[in-house]
Amino acid sequence: TFVVTENCIKCKYTDCVDVCPVDCFHEGPNFLVIDPDECIDCTLCEPECPAHAIYSEDELPEGQEQFIQLNAELSKIWPSISEVKDALPDADEWNGKPDKLQYLER
Ligand code: SF4
Ligand code: F3S
Repeated sequence: TFVVTENCIKCKYTDCVDVCPVDCFHEGPNFLVIDPDECIDCTLCEPECPAHAIYSEDELPEGQEQFIQLNAELSKIWPSISEVKDALPDADEWNGKPDKLQYLER
């Protein structure tokens, strides 16, 4: 399955949702997650993210392992999103900033 990782937080560009053939993205206030039970590993979303926040769970960068659980958990709670919308207002400023997990809103 594919996993949305930390750099999506406070950016949420949403380009990823446009290409997903099974609409498995779910939206929170400042982060998106992938439902691991719906993702078919098509790989299409990975190159679409301007923040490079999407990885296969087998290729997660060091320190991002906890996002496997967060995607599984939050995708069951948050509503589905399948249409692109504007990124968060300061997305370009937050893109690439470290330690954004503390800002995750649920
Ligand atoms: Fe959707 Fe494919 Fe990305 Fe999985 S890998 S979230 S199915 S676009
Ligand atoms: Fe997040 Fe990247 Fe999608 S920033 S909303 S995973 S395009």
